[in-house]
Amino acid sequence: MRYRFLIHIGLAAVALFGGLPASLADEPQTVLITGANRGIGLEFARQLSARGDSVIGTARKPDEAIELKDLGVRVEQLDVTDSASVQALAARLQGVPIDLLINNAGIGGHTANSFATTDFDEIAHTFDVNSLGPMRVTQALLPNLEAGEGKTVVKISSTMGSIEQNRGGYYGYRASKAALNMFNKSLAAELGKQGFITIVMHPGWVKTRMGGAGAPVEPKDSVAGMIEVIDALNTEDNGAFLDYQGNTIPW
Ligand SMILES: NC(=O)c1ccc[n+]([C@@H]2O[C@H](COP(=O)([O-])OP(=O)(O)OC[C@H]3O[C@@H](n4cnc5c(N)ncnc54)[C@H](OP(=O)(O)O)[C@@H]3O)[C@@H](O)[C@H]2O)c1
Repeated sequence: MRYRFLIHIGLAAVALFGGLPASLADEPQTVLITGANRGIGLEFARQLSARGDSVIGTARKPDEAIELKDLGVRVEQLDVTDSASVQALAARLQGVPIDLLINNAGIGGHTANSFATTDFDEIAHTFDVNSLGPMRVTQALLPNLEAGEGKTVVKISSTMGSIEQNRGGYYGYRASKAALNMFNKSLAAELGKQGFITIVMHPGWVKTRMGGAGAPVEPKDSVAGMIEVIDALNTEDNGAFLDYQGNTIPW
């Protein structure tokens, strides 16, 4: 991974001194991040815009997305469970190439940890947000991604979606992330033929509204790690399940 990073630095240096077309050097990319008004999504928007990438951050309620707006990025309305909202976003972004899509929006959705008290309507909603939402958004933005050079789709999953590491509880959340992982694998097989890299990532246990105050990983460290991993991706990584430090997670 570091090797590829060094190649990029080399290409950038050569391009700077006139040896290569600029398109071969590292250039600012256009990135769309869902659920960017707080938590991990907001931190992605902060770090990517700070380094010069063109960021489109989505929020269910853009008027209330004060911190996101303060970054000076483009803010768009999006509820990933609402097909009309997803289609409206795609219409507003028609003709805008997107290099990297980060499907970050998600919910914990688990009020019960025992099967006897599991609420299936709640589980269905968790699937709608965590499993179907990223697929809906990716499908709607496929023309934008095809027009972009990066052709990279990241879906924020969780080790909680690892069947091998399942120690019980959190029925809805675990199953929703496992479904997301499977969706991603199918998508990777199909889009890989066009040179896409589509992966699922575990951000660590992160100090956000979802992760709670006791979480050991700060959003800035989780996101810095994920950006480093994403920057270093190559086509061999298509379909992978990686954590924020680049480790492969068992399915
Ligand atoms: N924090 C952790 O320890 C941890 C660990 C593993 C995986 N993850 C994953 O990381 C991602 C981000 O989590 P986080 O910790 O940053 O959580 P968070 O602070 O609770 O933020 C969740 C984000 O998702 C948005 N969202 C929720 N439902 C949505 C919907 N229907 N449509 C569009 N956006 C919606 C929220 O928007 P609103 O403000 O409008 O609700 C918010 O922007 C999630 O996919 C989560 O499963 C987190």
